[in-house]
Amino acid sequence: MIFESHAHYDDEKFNEDREELLSSMKENGIEYIINVGASLETTRNTVELIKKYPFIYGAAGVHPSDTAELNEENFAWLKEQCNHAKIVAVGEIGLDYYWDEPDREIQKKWFRRQLEMAKETNLPIIIHSREAAKDTLDIMKEMECSKMSGVVHCFSYSKEIAREILDMGFYLGIGGVVTFQNAKAIKEVVAYAPLEKILLETDCPYLAPTPHRGKRNSSLYLPLIAEEIAKIKEIEYDEVIRVTNKNAKKLFCIE
Ligand code: NI
Repeated sequence: MIFESHAHYDDEKFNEDREELLSSMKENGIEYIINVGASLETTRNTVELIKKYPFIYGAAGVHPSDTAELNEENFAWLKEQCNHAKIVAVGEIGLDYYWDEPDREIQKKWFRRQLEMAKETNLPIIIHSREAAKDTLDIMKEMECSKMSGVVHCFSYSKEIAREILDMGFYLGIGGVVTFQNAKAIKEVVAYAPLEKILLETDCPYLAPTPHRGKRNSSLYLPLIAEEIAKIKEIEYDEVIRVTNKNAKKLFCIE
């Protein structure tokens, strides 16, 4: 069965049919889902979801674009959430230079602090990095991420950057972008990376794969991503599903 390693089912785009959609996951071959926090509020929502659905696990963290909301007091609250038995990762955390706000120094500060939090709570990390490859790698090295474990989600960089990430023992999260016709660099990364280091993800409700591009995404579209990976690597679809499932269970210590 399929392991969905990155979703945001607390997003308001699921308000109309969340219950129905999530109830249909098992029958559609989705075994587990990691719901990822991206702010204090969405981390709170994630804790609610993992209490309600046995097959949903969570990640607690604040996305770089939301780090301006952090202070010592609410950071202590965030860290407490990591003690929940079904919070299996810290994330998504990292750097996003696509937007000018918040200031890069603020993003870096809280990236480091949340990496420390992962170290102290012994949890793997889910990294978000957009147009910030060099600074992300520099901080990962400085913080000795090679001694930790994690995934760079929605991987969007070159093969050369992928090699550095893989050398640190991290996984690459591959989502809908790999199905886009013009996504040449990501297709190259998928061809290059060992299947044992790839996780399947949607980042839903965002980044729906072809032919649903631009529409609301959901874990039900993961087979389209797995098919594309199978095609690129010239292997069986079932092998992609089986190995990526095993990878995610190993990383998040599930089962
Ligand atoms: Ni995300």
